[in-house]
Amino acid sequence: MEEPRVLKFLRDCDDRFVSGEEMAEALSISRAAVWKDIENLRRLGYAVAAIPNRGYRLVAKPDCLYPWEVQADLATSFVGRELFYFRETDSTNNQAKKLLKTATPAEGAAVVAETQLAGKGRLGRQWFSPAGAGIWTSIILHPALPVADMAKLTIMVAVAVRRAVLEATGLELVIKWPNDLLWAGRKVCGILAELGGEVDRLAFLVVGIGLNVNQVAEDFPEELRETAGSLRLAAGRSLDRVVLLQALFRQVEACYLQVLKEGFAGILEDCRRYSATLGQRLTVREGARTLTGVARGIGDDGGLQLELTTGELVTVYSGDTTLSV
Ligand code: BTN
Repeated sequence: MEEPRVLKFLRDCDDRFVSGEEMAEALSISRAAVWKDIENLRRLGYAVAAIPNRGYRLVAKPDCLYPWEVQADLATSFVGRELFYFRETDSTNNQAKKLLKTATPAEGAAVVAETQLAGKGRLGRQWFSPAGAGIWTSIILHPALPVADMAKLTIMVAVAVRRAVLEATGLELVIKWPNDLLWAGRKVCGILAELGGEVDRLAFLVVGIGLNVNQVAEDFPEELRETAGSLRLAAGRSLDRVVLLQALFRQVEACYLQVLKEGFAGILEDCRRYSATLGQRLTVREGARTLTGVARGIGDDGGLQLELTTGELVTVYSGDTTLSV
């Protein structure tokens, strides 16, 4: 999806009105083409004022994650540099995997959608992804790391989301192992990583991030109302999704480069420091087994060390945790 040519021109003119004639000349197109482009811009949600004898002026931009908006001052070198935008799609993770099969997306390429019709959560659940209310994105990476590092890579993404939200909004989310982010006990962000490859080497990693941004309580379906939250509910004001997505891409890139250069130590340190899990009594469902105990630590392998009621210490590497009261 290309940035409409008249948009760039109007943006560069700031608050000044520009005549159709001036624009047509500058862009080497006809005045009829200018008019058509302006109409197209309005269809995309931009507010363009038009005053006879004065011309056009850009008044407001829509709350949309258009690639040219996100990439405008994007401070990354590869994450989000290639961006596939959908107004709606089934699931951005599915789209990313489709791209990996049918094309050669660049390292750090991302898929973003305003809404997902079949958003996927962990453990086969659905992910509620209403239009324009959150960030539903999937980032494609090819880490030259063993599959055993998978758990740590998803923790890395949780740390990146935490840093991005802090940078863009000042809000301090906590991490519920392995990779949920909470605010005041409510889930604000979920991460679904899908991988392909051999045991000793990951061929690709699709990191799906679902961040609830501007939902209010009534926007959540009944069954999520007690447990789900959004950044808007946390901050008490609505937030700019473009700024958040830019921060997210930047922090994912920074954390990823940190891991490739120095390993996972710094990331795990953050995960422990901002953990909602450590010291808590909880139940972990890992495949067929359910374990209850107190979370004593997060190991250097990313596993959660759980002290069972029998006193035995076990480590779990994936699963669903529920904090017990
Ligand atoms: C979870 O269950 O906590 C994980 C939720 C992950 C949701 C995101 S939204 C973008 C990406 N596309 C999907 O279909 N799922 C992930």
